[in-house]
This record gives sequence, C-alpha cells and structure tokens, in this order.
Amino acid sequence: MKRFLPFSASDESHLFLTSGLALYLPRPMNETKSYSPGLEGVIAAETSLSFLDTEQEEIVIRGYDLLALIRQKGYSDVVGLLLDGELPAPQRRAEIETEMTKAEVPPRVYEILKLLPSQMHAMDRLRTAVSALAGFDPEANSADPASEKNRAPRVIGQIAQIVANLHHIAQGSSPERFSPEYSLAENFLRVLVRRPVSAAEVRAFEQSLIAYSEHELPNSTFAARVVASTLSDMYGALTAAVASLKGPLHGGANEAVMYMLLEAKNSQGLEALIRQKLAKKERIMGFGHRVYMRRMDPRAQLLKEVLQNLVQAAGRGQEYVEMCQVGEDIMRTEKGLYPNLDYYAAPVYYLLGIPIELYTPIFFAARTVGLLAHIIEQHSENRLYRPRVLYKGPRGKKI
Ligand code: CMC
Repeated sequence: MKRFLPFSASDESHLFLTSGLALYLPRPMNETKSYSPGLEGVIAAETSLSFLDTEQEEIVIRGYDLLALIRQKGYSDVVGLLLDGELPAPQRRAEIETEMTKAEVPPRVYEILKLLPSQMHAMDRLRTAVSALAGFDPEANSADPASEKNRAPRVIGQIAQIVANLHHIAQGSSPERFSPEYSLAENFLRVLVRRPVSAAEVRAFEQSLIAYSEHELPNSTFAARVVASTLSDMYGALTAAVASLKGPLHGGANEAVMYMLLEAKNSQGLEALIRQKLAKKERIMGFGHRVYMRRMDPRAQLLKEVLQNLVQAAGRGQEYVEMCQVGEDIMRTEKGLYPNLDYYAAPVYYLLGIPIELYTPIFFAARTVGLLAHIIEQHSENRLYRPRVLYKGPRGKKI
C-alpha cells in the first residue's frame, strides 16, 4: 500500500484573528498535505515526557533510559519522575507512596462493579469503574494542570486497587484495601494474588509496572490526549484510554499471548501453532510493533531477563523460558519480527499466579501515571486536535 498520498490543499481561506479583527487570507499556494494511514510516522504531539529513540535503541523517559529505571528504581520513583519532571527526593517519594497506598476507592464504585455481569470483559468492567470514579471527586471537572497533578497519585492508587480487586469482585469476594505498610507494587501484587509474596516476586512485578509506565504516543495515550484537548477532564480521557488499550493490537496482546502459550502446551506445540497461524496469515500476538517493527522492543529484552530471574528464584517455570525462546526464534526466521513487551510480560504474570483476564488491566494501571502526565501536559499547552480527511466518497448527488 502506498503510505503517503500527497494532495493539494483546498482553496479554503485561512482565518486570522488580529486584535479582534477577522481577516481572511488565501492559503499559501505551495501548501500540500499528506495522508498516512494509521498516522504512521506522523508527529502528533510535542512532549517532554518520553521518546522512542530507535537509532540509539533507547527509550528516553524525562531524560533517563527506561531500562536503567527498570533495573535501578522503584515504581514510585518513576511516578515522581513523570509527574514532577525529576526523580523524587526521599521525602517526595515517601509522600507519593503514601498518597497512592492510602487512596480509598469509593465503596459505591465497588458496588457498581458488583452489579456488572462477571463474564463482562475485565477491561470493560475497569472502563466503567474509571468513569465512575469521577462521581466521587469534587474536582472531577477541572482541567487545571495543577489540580490534576495533585490528584494524580490518588487516582493511580485507586486504579491499582480497582484492578487488584477486579477478579475477586467478579468471583463474589469482598474487595481488600491497600496498606500504607507496603509499597504500591507490593500492595498491588498481594491483593491480586491474596497470598504471601516473596521479595523476588514483588521486584519482578514492580519491574513490569515500570516497563509499562510510559511509552511515548501509543494509541491509548493519543486517545487520552485527543479527549483532553477538548478541555474535557482526566476521567474522560482515562476512560477513552481504557477502551483503546483493550484492543488485541495494543494492550490486549498480553493476555492473548498467554492463551497462545497455554494452547501450545510446550515448545514443540508452540512451534506447530505459530507455523499453522502464519500459514493462515494470522497475526502472532506479542510480536511486531509500529515503531520497533524490525527490531526488538528494548522492554521485551528486559522483561525476558525479569522472567529468567523469576524462574531462577522460584525454581519453576523453565518451560516458559524455553517456549518463549522457540517462539522468538521462529518469528525472527520466518517473519523477521521480534517480540514486544507483552510477549514476556505474559509468562511473568502467569508465574506470579495472576488471573489472565487481569493482564491488560494491570498494563492500564501501570500506564495510568504516563497517561496522567500526558493529560496534564496536554492541558498545560493545549491545542484542540481537529485533523482533516482525504475524502474519497461521491459528490454532486441530487436529492
Ligand atoms: N504476526 C504476524 N505478522 C505480523 C505481525 C504479527 N504479530 N505484526 C506485523 N505483521 C506483519 C503484517 O502482516 C504485515 O505483513 P505484510 O506487509 O506482508 O502484509 C507487516 O508485518 C506489517 O504489519 P502492519 O500491520 O502494517 O504493521 P503495524 O505497524 O500496523 O502493526 C502491530 C503493528 C503491533 C499492530 C502488529 O505488529 C501486530 O498486530 N502485532 C500483534 C499484536 C501485538 O502484539 N500488539 C502489542 C503491541 S506492543 C504493546 C502495545 O503497544 O500495546
């Protein structure tokens, strides 16, 4: 398919407002517009938050390398970094951690969740809950960046608690609260699995949260910025982002990967399954990426290490390391495609004993900080998103 289709600007006039005077000026004659399906390669926002530098193979988060943050920092450090622009000093970090872990989910939000059919997709239940949170925030309709920044740690904590309890509620159990005694990451995992967790498990989970925390302008972040650009509020923008993230081409890939690994059962099974799917021209979930398409997603390489460390610490799960390697090798040889983060996040969550329906909601909970930082940035330097179309329908029809 031809990717860029140049076409001439219409003869519409530009409207300029100068000191209250409206002036109509003709568009510059040499202006052309291009169409890029899926906005591939289009720069659609200016940001100080993150950048995927594919030449240097670095994911830059507010000046830091994401992989260094995953290896050396905690989730609350990254929350502080994204919200404040700098890595937090110990006192600020503690303040953020407390706000996140002390955040209360309004009981009526849990009541709403209890009313939803348990077979409803977990991302749809989460979407409803995120939207409902607005009803309990007196500043819900404010698009003021300072107010949004103040409320951000609480909202991150609330969404993490909702996700941690989503499956339990659907099973008829009561929700559990987070405790300020533990970090957000530890609370999140403890409530998800409701059993004692080891330090190695908490660290693996926390590293996955950091890996998911921010990633420039994927579909869900773009959706959030588009909504925010109307000066709509952060709950609306987050709700749009949940809907976007649900799709299997985006966040939904992590749970699809796990279903594929379980269906395959072992390495030989995975090889056969992938070959079968490729013969039918089906997509293999967990491979490919719009930005990294022909290279490895750096986050996937790191999550592969996280998986190996977890397997070593737990003394089980080696079969998933082997299976994933087989899948990786086949896809590289057959399609020249590499794994993305979702490919290695799936077995990590499986070995932690997390229900599969929660993999994409966890991605969302981890990404809430990145989304909020983008919403705040959008509201700070707002310009309404309102692109144009390349019309290919008929004209001149008579009634
Ligand atoms: N399996 C098989 N073939 C693939 C895959 C895949 N996973 N991904 C891309 N291709 C092929 C595709 O069929 C096409 O081949 P051809 O040119 O022969 O028609 C070529 O690669 C280019 O694909 P595209 O659809 O034009 O590329 P895109 O930039 O629109 O796709 C993608 C990006 C992520 C949607 C795609 O790679 C995909 O569907 N991957 C599987 C879903 C997935 O893992 N999504 C998670 C993405 S990373 C985390 C996140 O952001 O959520």
